[in-house]
Formats: sequence, C-alpha cells, structure tokens
Amino acid sequence: MKTVPDRKDIMRDSIIVALDLPDGEAALEVARSLKGHVTWVKVGMTLFYAAGPGIVRELRALGFKVFVDLKLHDIPHQVEGACRMLVRQGADLFTVHAAGGRAMLEAAVSATAKAAEKFRVPCPQIVAVTVLTSLDDAALAEIGCERTSAEQVRALAMLAAETGVDGVVCSPQEAAEMRALLGPDALVVTPGVRPVWAEAGDQARVATPAEALEAGASHLVIGRPITGAKNPAAAVKRIIEGE
Ligand code: C5P
Repeated sequence: MKTVPDRKDIMRDSIIVALDLPDGEAALEVARSLKGHVTWVKVGMTLFYAAGPGIVRELRALGFKVFVDLKLHDIPHQVEGACRMLVRQGADLFTVHAAGGRAMLEAAVSATAKAAEKFRVPCPQIVAVTVLTSLDDAALAEIGCERTSAEQVRALAMLAAETGVDGVVCSPQEAAEMRALLGPDALVVTPGVRPVWAEAGDQARVATPAEALEAGASHLVIGRPITGAKNPAAAVKRIIEGE
C-alpha cells in the first residue's frame, strides 16, 4: 500500500541546510546536531575550500544527503573531471553554471552518469544556476548579454533541461515559472527562504518555506536561520511545524 507523505515529511526532505562555515569541524558539529531532523545539507565554496573535498564524504557518513554547490563553469574537460571527483566523494546533488554552454552541460551529465556506474554509486542529480541573483539587467548588459535577466533565466533553464540537467536553482519568485517551464519532475531549488520569525538579512527577496513550496520549489536552501540559531535542531523543528 502506498503511503502519502505528510506535510512534515515533505518539509523534512525539502529543507537543505546551507553549512556556510569556514571550518570543517564546526560544520560537522552543526550537522551532528541536525541528524534525524533534516535529510539534506549543502556544502558551498566556503566550507569546501576550507575543509577540502573529504567534508562531503564525512557528511554522508553522518547519514545526510549532500548538495555540493560549487557552480562548476569551465571547459568541458575540466568540468568532467570535477564531476567525476564529486561522484567519488558521494555528492547527491551539485550545481553547474548553465552559462558554461551546451557542450559543458552535456559533458557534466555524461561524465556523472559514467562515474556513478564506475564507482557503483547512485547517480547524483545536477541543477543549473541560470543568472546569478546578484546580476541585474545593467550588469548583464555590461558583460554582453542583451536579454533581460528574466529572458536569460528562461533561455538558460531550457538549455540546461535539453542537455539532461535535472533542474535549476532559482529565487522563490521564479519558482512557479520554472516549474511550469520544466515540468513536474524537475528539481527547483530555491535559496532566499526565510521562516516568518527569521530576519531577512542580506536576502533581498525572500519567501517563507510554505510559500516557496506552494510556488513549485522542490528543495529549500536555508542557512543562517538554522546554523545561526542557538539550537539549530529547534530552529528546524519550528520550520517543519510551520511556524
Ligand atoms: O544563510 P542563507 O539562508 O541566506 O543561505 C542561503 C544559501 O543559499 C547560501 O549558501 C547562499 O550561497 C545560497 N544562495 C543564495 N542566493 C542565491 C544562490 C545561492 O543565497 N541566489
């Protein structure tokens, strides 16, 4: 008999805690305190470069699914090599820049599948960053992109989907459009998520976890409201309870 996951199970599996700490041991300590409360953690550049690739394996060993957010963007040969190493460390999900182009995206998808087969591990999923939210239309024009940011997001999301990439990273405000564009199975990963009780900080356009899921997000990246809390597990609980 198929059991329907309840709202709290969905929330537990959707939250990705961004462990943006410049110290591997501190990140592991937060992760240990979150064991059993969330399914996913995220390793971004700060932690990856501070602690080294082994942090991915250590977080996996604690039982987490690991999202490695290094936004790969290089010639296909380099990206292939990076994908193979991420598969080997046990990443469950990672990011590439869609602006790296079709050949780079295809190389990432194919190298990842081959490496998963070789290392006999489940094939990680890949999500594409379209336009960095730090770039506005003027900044895009300055680097030679004549499309508006919204047009460029759509074009790059379609390109990524055509190459077999599993979804996109986008703001909660773009989630509904990305869901409609990419279909029901795509991953739509949204940072900029804030529970009502948390401060927005440097996130300009925020949505609550419930709003982001309602808009079509499959995963919610939440960092400081959890990692900066006195009791990170209690903060997760409040989010899951819908506070
Ligand atoms: O602490 P906070 O919840 O703001 O963390 C959000 C995470 O999402 C950070 O790891 C940040 O790098 C990432 N992110 C973001 N905005 C984007 C893309 C990624 O905040 N546009």
